[in-house]
Amino acid sequence: MAPPKKFMTLERFINEQESMHPGATGEFSALLHDLSLAAKLVWREVSKAGLVDVLGTTNQTNSSGDIVKKLDVFADETIFKAMDHGGHICVMASEENEDILHIPDEYVTGKYVLLYDPLDGSSNIDANITIGSIFSIFKRVTTSGKGTLQDCLQPGYKQVAAGYIIYGSSTIFVYCTGHGVHGFTLDPSVGEFLLSHENIRIPKKGNIYSMNEGNFSNWDPGMQNYITYLKQQDKATGRPYSLRYIGTMVGDAHRTLLYGGIFAYPGDKKNPEGKLRLMYECNPMAYIIEQAGGRSSNGTTSVLNVAPTSLHQHTPVFLGSEEDMKLCEEFLQGKRS
Ligand code: AHG
Ligand code: MN
Ligand code: MN
Repeated sequence: MAPPKKFMTLERFINEQESMHPGATGEFSALLHDLSLAAKLVWREVSKAGLVDVLGTTNQTNSSGDIVKKLDVFADETIFKAMDHGGHICVMASEENEDILHIPDEYVTGKYVLLYDPLDGSSNIDANITIGSIFSIFKRVTTSGKGTLQDCLQPGYKQVAAGYIIYGSSTIFVYCTGHGVHGFTLDPSVGEFLLSHENIRIPKKGNIYSMNEGNFSNWDPGMQNYITYLKQQDKATGRPYSLRYIGTMVGDAHRTLLYGGIFAYPGDKKNPEGKLRLMYECNPMAYIIEQAGGRSSNGTTSVLNVAPTSLHQHTPVFLGSEEDMKLCEEFLQGKRS
C-alpha cells in the first residue's frame, strides 16, 4: 500500500524547518525531538490509563489548589526526565511544581526555557475524555549557568515556540516556531508522528462558543450580553451559535483552531483573573491561535502582551476567530449591548 501522500515524520519536518535557518545550530531541533519523545511516553500511559495504576488522585494539591491526579504526576515527571539531560534547556517550570525546576548538576545547561502543563484537563482523565499537554519555549535572558525565574517570566510575545499534544480519538502533536502551525498525528503502529495538518489556519469566523456557561451569573454584564447575543435567532448573522465545551483547554482550543469560533475563560466576580494560568496554558495557546491567523485577549489586550509577575498567575483568556474576537471585545468594552 502506498504510504500516505505526505509521509513526513515530525522528525524530518523539524530538520527541514531547521535548514530554513542558516545560522541554526540544531539545538532547537534536538529540543523538539526530545519533546516528541516525551509526548509518546505520556501517550503510552494515557492510552492505557484504565489498565495501570494511573487513574485516580494523589493526596496532593498543586500551587493552583487543584487536586493532583496520578497521571498529572506521571506526565510531569516524564516530561522533566525526557528534557533535563539534552543540554538544550537551562531551566523549566511546570504547573505541578511551585518553584522553577533546575537542570540536575550532572547535566549541561542550554539556551532555552521550557514551561509546561504536563496534563491539561485532569478532571476528565477518569471519564476518558480528551486531555492534553501544553508547552511554551523561550530563549534564556540570563547569560549562562543555571536558569532563573527571570528566564521563565517573559511575556508571551517572546516565545520562540509553543504547542500541545492532544490525547483524543487520535493523538496529535501541534506546534509552531513562527513559521506556520502544523499538526502531526501519531501512528502507533510505527511510533511516529506523521504530518496530518500542514499550516493550519483558523477560520475568520465560526459559529461555536466554548466556555463554562455555569459561571454566567458571575460574569461582567458585557460578557453576559455577548453570550445572550450569540444565542438569539438571526439567520442573517448565523445565530444562534452552538455551545461546545469539554473542560479541557487543549481540546476546546484545538476545536476552535480547526472549526473557528471563540473559546474563553473570563474573569468573574469570584475570580477576577479567571482560572487558567498565563505561563503554561494561555500564552502557548494564544501564540498558536495568533500564528494561525486568529486573535487572543485578556479582555483588553493580546494575552501575549501580559507582563508576567509570577509563575502560576491566572489571566482571563479569550481566543478565537478574528471576527468573533472583534465582536466579543466590542461587548466586553461596552461598545455593544
Ligand atoms: P488542568 O487540568 O491542567 O488543571 O487544566 C484544567 C483547566 C483547563 O483545561 C480547562 O479549560 C478548565 O480547567 C476547565 O475549568 P472548569 O471545570 O472550571 O470549566
Ligand atoms: Mn491545564
Ligand atoms: Mn494540568
